[in-house]
Amino acid sequence: MDKIRIVGGKSLEGTVRISGAKNASLPALCAGLLTDQPVRLSNVPEVRDIRTLGRLLNDLGAEVCFEVGGMVQINASHLTSVEAPYELVKTMRASVLVLGPLLAREGRARVSLPGGCAIGARPINLHLQALEKMGARIVVDHGYVEAQAGKLRGSEISFDVSTVTGTENVMMAACLAEGETVIRNAACEHEVVDLADLLAAMGARVQGAGTTTMTVQGVGSLHGARHAVVPDRIETGTYLAACAVAGGDVEIQNCHPPHLRAVIDKLREAGVRIEEGPDNLRVRAPRRVKPANVATHPHPSFPTDMQAQYMTLMTQASGTCTITENIFENRFMHVAELQRMGANIQLEGRTAIVTGPTPLSGAQVMATDLRASASLVLAGLCASGETVVDRVYHLDRGYYRIDEKLRGLGADIERLT
Ligand code: EPU
Repeated sequence: MDKIRIVGGKSLEGTVRISGAKNASLPALCAGLLTDQPVRLSNVPEVRDIRTLGRLLNDLGAEVCFEVGGMVQINASHLTSVEAPYELVKTMRASVLVLGPLLAREGRARVSLPGGCAIGARPINLHLQALEKMGARIVVDHGYVEAQAGKLRGSEISFDVSTVTGTENVMMAACLAEGETVIRNAACEHEVVDLADLLAAMGARVQGAGTTTMTVQGVGSLHGARHAVVPDRIETGTYLAACAVAGGDVEIQNCHPPHLRAVIDKLREAGVRIEEGPDNLRVRAPRRVKPANVATHPHPSFPTDMQAQYMTLMTQASGTCTITENIFENRFMHVAELQRMGANIQLEGRTAIVTGPTPLSGAQVMATDLRASASLVLAGLCASGETVVDRVYHLDRGYYRIDEKLRGLGADIERLT
């Protein structure tokens, strides 16, 4: 199993190019199931989760053609299966995004229940309730969601909790439903907006994406389209935090600064100097990091997917701050590993109290989810001596060649295979 070895203490200089957003590419690939015509996506990151979803779409009978440079074509002219098996869903929960499109296009779907994961229980009850309201008959049997529908019908959906993939599943189902669907308390994340843009290019009638009330008018069929996926805001934020914690001066290219409003504001509060261009950012590390409290909430607040990386930065701040995780109940798996490296962090329920600055010392560390792994790489960049991060496959799920990109910025980092 691959590991990443980092020798800390090198500051970062130079430019890094951001890849397309994983969490926008996953629903975009699934949207390809809604039409018998080809959908061509560009700026898709070549990360493991995308390959996993490609395998699932292949299993369903869709042709998925990965080309160089992040181009992917999905051709779902003939679907041969409606089943997402446990083996794939357990490795990647976003597989549940095939449920809405399959129900809308084929009138049935059999999708394994994902089960809990390293960051929390993560149920899909809200996806299922919404689809039932649209006329689907759903039973859970032997760990599988078995869903059947004639033609789905438009409906009023009001989510109790803002859910990103739940909103995306309903949007995709509603495109081919009879009549109008109104989604209240819809997720407003940029990945939802990006999906709405793709669906519109395919002939869907979606309004209000990016606000909490969305309306989708069902149409008889959708057609093929071309779409460029938005840059990955979490990868961008991770490189901002990396430079802030390691020291240095970095230009981040091919990003979209307005998508990082809450992250940029919080990093500035912590003393990080950030200049915004139209599709680039310049980040300069502060001489002294200031502590700044943060709490994660749905967009437009500070994203949960940046919480772990931000915590690594706060271990270097002069003073105490609190980091509260409101989205997932168990997203502090990085805390114990950061403590092993010397961080002073106390956990009180959903809040981590971080007191810095603490010199970190390199260690063998291991993480159980994608963003936690990223936080440990960042810790390795500022730690003394050698850090070896185990279970690199978590990083490879969502970061395109993080080791190469950081090495390009001058970090002493290598992959041990
Ligand atoms: N929730 C329910 N019932 C549901 C759905 C969600 O109770 O049916 C709860 C969840 O347990 C959680 C909250 O609602 O407490 C929000 O979860 P959400 O459904 O929004 O999360 P998700 O759609 O499963 C996506 C991203 C995550 C990201 C979250 C929050 C994708 C593929 N995944 O997950 O990304 O953390 O939204 O922004 O879009 C990552 O990239 O590392 C990652 C975990």
